[in-house]
Amino acid sequence: MKVTAIGTGYVGLVTGACLAEMGNHVLCLDVNAEKIRILNEGEIPIHEPGLQEIVQRNVAAGRLQFTTDIDRAVNHGTIMFIGVGTPPDEDGSADLQYVLAAARSIGARMTDYKVIVDKSTVPVGTADKVRAAVADELTKRGSTLAFAVVSNPEFLKEGAAVEDFMKPDRIIIGSDDEQATLFMRALYSPFTRNNDRMVVMDLRSAEFTKYAANAMLATRISFMNELALLAEKVGADIELVRRGIGSDPRIGYSFLYAGAGYGGSCFPKDVKALVQAAQAEGVSLRVLAAVEQANERQKMVLVDKVVARFGADLSGRHFAIWGLAFKPNTDDMREAPALVIVQELIRLGATVAAYDPVAMPEAKRVLGDLRSFSFCERAEQALEGADALVLVTEWKEFKSPDFDAIKAALKQPVVFDGRNQYEPSLMKVLGLEHHGIGRGS
Ligand code: NAD
Ligand code: UGA
Repeated sequence: MKVTAIGTGYVGLVTGACLAEMGNHVLCLDVNAEKIRILNEGEIPIHEPGLQEIVQRNVAAGRLQFTTDIDRAVNHGTIMFIGVGTPPDEDGSADLQYVLAAARSIGARMTDYKVIVDKSTVPVGTADKVRAAVADELTKRGSTLAFAVVSNPEFLKEGAAVEDFMKPDRIIIGSDDEQATLFMRALYSPFTRNNDRMVVMDLRSAEFTKYAANAMLATRISFMNELALLAEKVGADIELVRRGIGSDPRIGYSFLYAGAGYGGSCFPKDVKALVQAAQAEGVSLRVLAAVEQANERQKMVLVDKVVARFGADLSGRHFAIWGLAFKPNTDDMREAPALVIVQELIRLGATVAAYDPVAMPEAKRVLGDLRSFSFCERAEQALEGADALVLVTEWKEFKSPDFDAIKAALKQPVVFDGRNQYEPSLMKVLGLEHHGIGRGS
């Protein structure tokens, strides 16, 4: 099939590349000329395992192309994916300006039938707005061309985006148009054996499903983070509790890890957007509002632990930070807990040396020239002369470090383990003072 992907961020690029991998002819459009330049040079503008190989293979096969030319992009696809950003507005609600601009650019140029697919995360009712925007542009041209709008939210995780797209748990299709549903079934059939992972529903339920999924996952994390606070007080170990409750199939093991708070481009913004959308309908989502508040507090938990150990005045103290990205296997710094932690430690007078395997260029761009802050080329380098190590992101290379070397390099053998990577009992034997999250026993 001929597919256009509007927006070549995490979602648009992965969608375009993975659809090309299955034999579709895909043209990816972005308004960001620099991104398109990088892609046309055979590189990818983000760190995403496995993506570059798929992009290169399909570009070489002539199935995947990149452009900033809107006319060409609209002309190309019968199926038009909209995968542009939906950042939070000032009040937290989703800003639809990019989605609606993309819709208008389709309506203003299309010359044949299109299936317009909302892939971005958008509030309930957006498909109607997209339909109205396209229809308005067609009317301006005196055109009566037929088109359909479909909702197809994306559930990929950064760092595992290709794997998630290729082997989806489910493919949600919101559609009230039979022909468009047929097209979507055909497009996704290579990704779902016997169509058993395809769930077709009405548009509004599909749009809602995306927010419900992210809200549920964020809730699980904040719930565990709050229990971790209590576990420390009552002498229980949240890691054992996690295993104890996860074994119940009604609960399950996933997304129950207490840590330094959730970050990323989606949970924080989607939780806020759902709370805001509910408020506009006169419904107060109390649980979800608390999920967000708990996460704001959690991002400070490591700083609180540092302060409890070293005092509120951190002048003259120096800390090593391991991990800056909001999670491993990505260079995405959006809403990364590390941003809060680094800035707060510096505000309290400390100096900070940080290392991240891939996110340092992005962190440099986001943090700019920060006083009292330096980047290190290697993890061990960050430790030298530090009062303590603060582990914020659980990259694989931090899982089994040389603990003797850590102890030797630090001024004091203190480790703040923001992702519960190290066993407290082992740390004790090795002579390291370990401060985990919720490890009270
Ligand atoms: P992103 O910010 O990485 O990329 C968006 C891209 O769209 C940018 O390159 C931007 O230049 C481009 N763009 C904006 N307006 C455009 C236009 N009119 N025409 C062409 N290109 C345009 O965003 P993302 O992380 O890929 O997220 C996109 C959407 O998907 C969001 O709604 C997000 O919530 C959702 N989502 C993201 C993820 C994720 O893991 N990042 C997962 C699932 C869903
Ligand atoms: C999340 C969802 O997992 C995806 O299904 C969804 O498509 C995506 O948002 C989106 O809508 O954009 P992502 O943000 O890439 O994916 O990363 P996650 O793996 O979900 O992690 C999010 C944050 O939660 C990270 O900061 C991570 O450290 C934290 N987390 C995750 C925990 O603190 N504990 C856990 O048990 C799991």
